[in-house]
Amino acid sequence: MIDDIHRLDAEVRLRPAAPADAASLAVSLTRSRAYMQPWEPDRPDTFYTEQGQRERLAGMLADRDAGRVMPWVLADEQDRVVGGFNLNGIVLGPFRSGVLGYWVDVEYAGRGLATAAVERICELARDELRLHRVEAGTVLDNVASQRVLAKCGFEQYGMAPRYLHINGEWRDHRLFQRILHDGPLTG
Ligand SMILES: CC(C)(COP(=O)(O)OP(=O)(O)OC[C@H]1O[C@@H](n2cnc3c(N)ncnc32)[C@H](O)[C@@H]1OP(=O)(O)O)[C@@H](O)C(=O)NCCC(=O)NCCS
Repeated sequence: MIDDIHRLDAEVRLRPAAPADAASLAVSLTRSRAYMQPWEPDRPDTFYTEQGQRERLAGMLADRDAGRVMPWVLADEQDRVVGGFNLNGIVLGPFRSGVLGYWVDVEYAGRGLATAAVERICELARDELRLHRVEAGTVLDNVASQRVLAKCGFEQYGMAPRYLHINGEWRDHRLFQRILHDGPLTG
C-alpha cells in the first residue's frame, strides 16, 4: 500500500515522509550539501535548518493531502532520514502522470538505494495511484541519475533547453519517462 514501509536493503527503508522528519532531514541535507550542489537548485541557508525543513515538510504534506505530491524518505535503522523521493505534480484525468525528484545521503550513495526506491515508487504509482506514466529530468552531465533511470526502465523522450535553474544557471535537461501501464483510464 502507498503508506507502507518498504525495506530496500538490510539497513534502509522507504516510507512516507512525516512531520517528525524535520530534524534528521536537516542533518542529512547538511552533510550532503556539497555532494548535491552540482545537481540541485541554489538553496538558502535556512533550507539546511530544522525549522526550514519543518516548513518545507508542512508544505509537502499539505500538497499530499490535496493529492498533488507523494513525499517519501529513506530511513536508516534508527529511523533517521538518509534520502528523499518525491512524486510531484501529480495530475489525473487523461494524463495520469507525475514528476519524480530524488536524492540520497552522501554516506549512503552508490549502493543501489536510488534504483530500489525508484523501482518501488513506480510500482506504487502504477498499482495504487493508477498513474499511466512517471517522468524525470536530469542535467546533461548527471550520469548517476541517468543510470538510475535507465536501470528502472525510463526512456529519454526529449531535451529541454534552459529548463531548470540548477547550481546557479538555467541548465539544459534530458527528459525521461516510464510508461507504467496502457490499461483503461480510471478515476
Ligand atoms: C543520483 C543519486 C540519487 C543516485 O543515488 P544512488 O543511491 O547512489 O544510486 P544507485 O546506487 O542506485 O545507482 C547509481 C548508478 O550510477 C552509477 N554512477 C554513479 N556515479 C557515476 C558516474 N560519475 N559516472 C557513471 N556512472 C555513475 C553507479 O555506478 C550506479 O550504476 P550501476 O548500478 O550500474 O553501477 C545520488 O547520486 C544523488 O543523490 N545525487 C545528488 C542529487 C541528484 O543528482 N538527484 C537527482 C537529480 S535528477
